[in-house]
Amino acid sequence: MKRPIAMIAGTGHAVPRKCLTNHDFASIGVETSDEWIVERTGIRQRYIAGDGESLTSLSADAARIAMKAAGVTAPELDVIILGTASPDRLLPATAVEVQAALGATRAAAFDLSAACSGWVYGMQVAEGLMAMGNAETVLVIGAETLSRIVNWKDRNTCVLFGDGAGATVLKRSTKGRGILSAFMRSDGTLADLLQRSAGGSLRPVTPEIIEDGSNCISMQGREVFKNAVRSMAEACDRALDGAKLSAADIDLLIPHQANIRIIEATAKHAGMPLEKVYVNVDRYGNTSAASIPIALDEAMRAGRVKEGMTVMFVAFGAGFTWGSIVVKF
Ligand code: COA
Repeated sequence: MKRPIAMIAGTGHAVPRKCLTNHDFASIGVETSDEWIVERTGIRQRYIAGDGESLTSLSADAARIAMKAAGVTAPELDVIILGTASPDRLLPATAVEVQAALGATRAAAFDLSAACSGWVYGMQVAEGLMAMGNAETVLVIGAETLSRIVNWKDRNTCVLFGDGAGATVLKRSTKGRGILSAFMRSDGTLADLLQRSAGGSLRPVTPEIIEDGSNCISMQGREVFKNAVRSMAEACDRALDGAKLSAADIDLLIPHQANIRIIEATAKHAGMPLEKVYVNVDRYGNTSAASIPIALDEAMRAGRVKEGMTVMFVAFGAGFTWGSIVVKF
C-alpha cells in the first residue's frame, strides 16, 4: 500500500501541577547543583505527579485536548495505543483505563513497551492497523510517571526524568498529508544499560529489592549517551532515505528530549541547523515516551508546525529501541 496512509489530525499534552526545579533538589536531600545539571543535560526543571495525578489522568487529559483539535469524539476512536514505561499497574494495561476514562466505547486499547521510543513505535503500529483496514481513527499517546519509578537516592538518574503525557489523533490521510517514511530498530544485547532489573516476574519485589532500589531505574549514562547519538543518527538517515528527502526538505526536527547534547549531536549529524530543531528539554526533563508528542503539541500551538510543512521525529530509548518517522502536515 502506498504512503501516506495516516495523518496527524490533532495533538494535545498535559503535565502534572508540581514543577521541580534544579534548585529544589537540595530540599529533598539530593547532592547536585543547577550548574551540573544544566551543563551536562540542559535540564532546568521537570514536572512531578502528585496526589490525584496518575498515568491514566495525564493521558486522558492530553487525549481530550488532541481529540478536540482533531474534531473527533471518544466513540469514534477505533484503537488507543499508549507508549509507556511507567504504567499505573502492571496488569491490566493503562490504555484500557484511558479507554474507560474517555468513554471510547468502540476502541481496542493496549500499552506499548518501547521506553522512550514508545510514541514513534506507536505511530508505526497505528499506521499499520490503518493500512490493513483494521482502524480509521487511532489515538497514540506517549505518557510517563517516571517520578514514581526513579531512585530518588541516585543522583545519576533522578535529576534527568520528568512526568507528562502527549497525545496524537491519527486519521486517514488526505491531500498527501501524513507519514511519509518510518523506521524502527532494537538491540536487546544492551538491555542492561538502562533498566529496572527487579519488580517484574523474573525478580518479583521483596523487602531486599526495595531496600537496594533495584526495582527503580538504573543506568550507565555514558554508554547510553554514546548509543543514543549513534542510533539517532542512523534513524535520521533512514527516515530521510525512506521519504527520498534531504535535510533541506525538513522544516522542523523534533527529537526525543533526553539531553541537549544528544539533541545537538543528532541535529549536527542530520545536517539540521539548530533553528530548525525543537527543544524543550530545559522545561520538562526527559519524559521518555511523552517527550516527542509533548514537543509536537507545543510546536503546533506555537505555529512552528503548519499545514504543508515536513517534520522529522527521531527517538531512542531503553532496550535499546530507536526509530523515526517523517510526516507531512
Ligand atoms: N549532580 C552532580 N554530580 C553528579 C550527578 C548529579 N546529578 N550525577 C552524576 N554526578 C557525578 C558523578 O558521580 C561523577 O562523579 P565522579 O567523577 O566523582 O565519579 C561525575 O558527575 C561524572 O559522571 P559521568 O557519568 O561521567 O558524567 P557524564 O558527563 O557522562 O554525564 C549524564 C552524565 C547522565 C548526564 C550523561 O551520561 C547522559 O546524559 N547520558 C545519557 C542519559 C540519557 O539520556 N538517558 C536516557 C536515554 S533515553
